[in-house]
Amino acid sequence: MEETRYLTFALGKGRLAKKTLELLEEIGITCEEMKDKDSRKLVFVNEERKLRFFLAKGPDVPTYVEYGAADIGVVGKDTILEENRRVYEVLDLGFGKCRMCVCGPEKSRELLQHHERIRVASKYPNIAKDYFYNKKHQTVDIIRLNGSVELGPMVGLSDVIVDIVETGSTLKENGLAILEEICPLSARMIVNQVSMQMQTDRIKRLINEIRGHVL
Ligand code: PRP
Repeated sequence: MEETRYLTFALGKGRLAKKTLELLEEIGITCEEMKDKDSRKLVFVNEERKLRFFLAKGPDVPTYVEYGAADIGVVGKDTILEENRRVYEVLDLGFGKCRMCVCGPEKSRELLQHHERIRVASKYPNIAKDYFYNKKHQTVDIIRLNGSVELGPMVGLSDVIVDIVETGSTLKENGLAILEEICPLSARMIVNQVSMQMQTDRIKRLINEIRGHVL
């Protein structure tokens, strides 16, 4: 069947994009021009399969997909939960595995147990809010940070943090611990809702091909 229009992928810059391209290569989809490190191009095409790819900041990927600027996106579950966009999450890609956790010094464990009004620093204020308000029914003050969130309890900005834990070494090196686990995370494939209706067969075929190679 002739593919009439490009299917566009938005990939979260960095490790996720690299892993996604490796996965696509396994099913025979390559994009040579994307491998050129000196290139300043932002959009890349695979003419054979009529696919287009672009790299975006992780938190922007669900935005591109919701508005249909990309049909498909690959992004972490953390970003999907935080951004809460109207997109379909269709596949767990099995890489980028880590956990969203409440972390802090051991002495903060008690504050969590007694449901005290504590300060929570996070790059993920929506996830933190949902967890404390809707799941734990604990009123807290949420402070938004943009990175190096572990500093929060170390310098006295907050009692705990809500952050991603992968190996746990950042916590360990800074005298912090996991106090509660919120949810497991990994890279997910998301699809624009209209694209899914209009290009059902093509997108489903692609999902099935990729699914067969997910570990
Ligand atoms: C992430 C996360 C933790 C760290 C966890 O930070 O926010 O700080 O990785 O990894 P680990 O458990 O393997 O030590 P990132 O490197 O993305 O930078 P950031 O702190 O600026 O967000």
